[in-house]
Amino acid sequence: MCELKGRKLVLGVTGGVAAYKAAELVRLLGKAGADVHVVLTEGGARFVTPVTYQALSGNRVWTDLWDARMDNNMAHIDLTRGADAVLIAPATADVIAKLVQGRADDLLTTLSLARECPLLVAPAMNRQMWEHPATQRNVAQLAADGATVLGPAAGDQACGEVGMGRMLEPEELLEHVIAFFQPKLLAGRKVVLTAGPTFEAIDPVRGITNTSSGKMGYALAQACARAGAEVVLVSGPTGLPVPAGARRADVRSALQMRDAVMAALPGADVFIGVAAVADYRPADAAEHKVKKSSADMTLRLTPNPDILAEVAARADAPFCVGFAAESRDLDAYAEGKRRAKRLPMLVGNLVQDGLGSDDNLVILYDDAGRHPLERAPKTVVARRIVEHLAGLLKTAAN
Ligand code: C5P
Repeated sequence: MCELKGRKLVLGVTGGVAAYKAAELVRLLGKAGADVHVVLTEGGARFVTPVTYQALSGNRVWTDLWDARMDNNMAHIDLTRGADAVLIAPATADVIAKLVQGRADDLLTTLSLARECPLLVAPAMNRQMWEHPATQRNVAQLAADGATVLGPAAGDQACGEVGMGRMLEPEELLEHVIAFFQPKLLAGRKVVLTAGPTFEAIDPVRGITNTSSGKMGYALAQACARAGAEVVLVSGPTGLPVPAGARRADVRSALQMRDAVMAALPGADVFIGVAAVADYRPADAAEHKVKKSSADMTLRLTPNPDILAEVAARADAPFCVGFAAESRDLDAYAEGKRRAKRLPMLVGNLVQDGLGSDDNLVILYDDAGRHPLERAPKTVVARRIVEHLAGLLKTAAN
């Protein structure tokens, strides 16, 4: 987790119950590498005190326009100089109204007016306050003024009511902040991916599967979404959450995976086959549970369709990317597969370097040759793959 390494963020916390989530947000942003400087409004400081934010961010916390700790006494200017963004979370209806009016009656509103960096705002309020025409007008104006409005979400509210106005969860806000800083290399593109293992039924309770965790495919789906693509993730059974910004189609078997891929394919610019699709499936899955006996048992297997090869062979084939996990002779096998399946790009790795783990060491293969990447977390590897892919798409378009 280093997606925000080198980023300086000013986090404004205003007076809403969701302030308790801001503490967790500070922790997550810091864990992702960001240098977080917290500014509290008077109301914000009533919910969670500066001590918590200071301990979690490792930086001084600012509450007062007249704070003399800054040598030149200009916290309202200095705090945002060199900052990559100001994020206000939670943002009350009141602070949103002030931002729209350009008011500057406390440190947070003053620095928001004096900033040179982007402003991100995560509203949090009671549903009636959110739905009020005044708030709706203000939020629309704030967005028109260039701010990025994150959420809110619908759900249970602290007041006991249910509706729109809940602040996004800290994990969701973290994801939005990370995505905000990613170059939109795949904007306007539709990407379909497969990920995870497949499960080939023997009977209603047994089947053949493999140890693919799905982590690489999910990380790649997330990287594509962060790069601005419309993403459809066709996934075999994994315990992983749906990556933000992706639409997931859940499948079990290779045949189901093929059907879901074909259904998602219209309009796709890119197809990436990351799934570890079972090469064979039981020829006759039993309708009822197979009973134990002391005799030998033979399971007849029949080959599964090769989804990637099928997509790549279509007359209207999108740009196809394959994966190859090998236990030896990576270059020869990977390049062989790329050519056999007629793929413009393939990502190869040695199984011992990636399967199931959070890190991966991969080599990219394309018509120009082999391009080894450094060992890195799968999220970072995914970003590098997207960069390479975007470069090839650009070349192909010219
Ligand atoms: O031939 P091999 O299975 O090693 O090829 C791996 C690549 O082909 C991966 O991109 C994988 O997702 C894809 N594949 C597929 N359908 C299969 C087998 C592999 O899409 N039945």
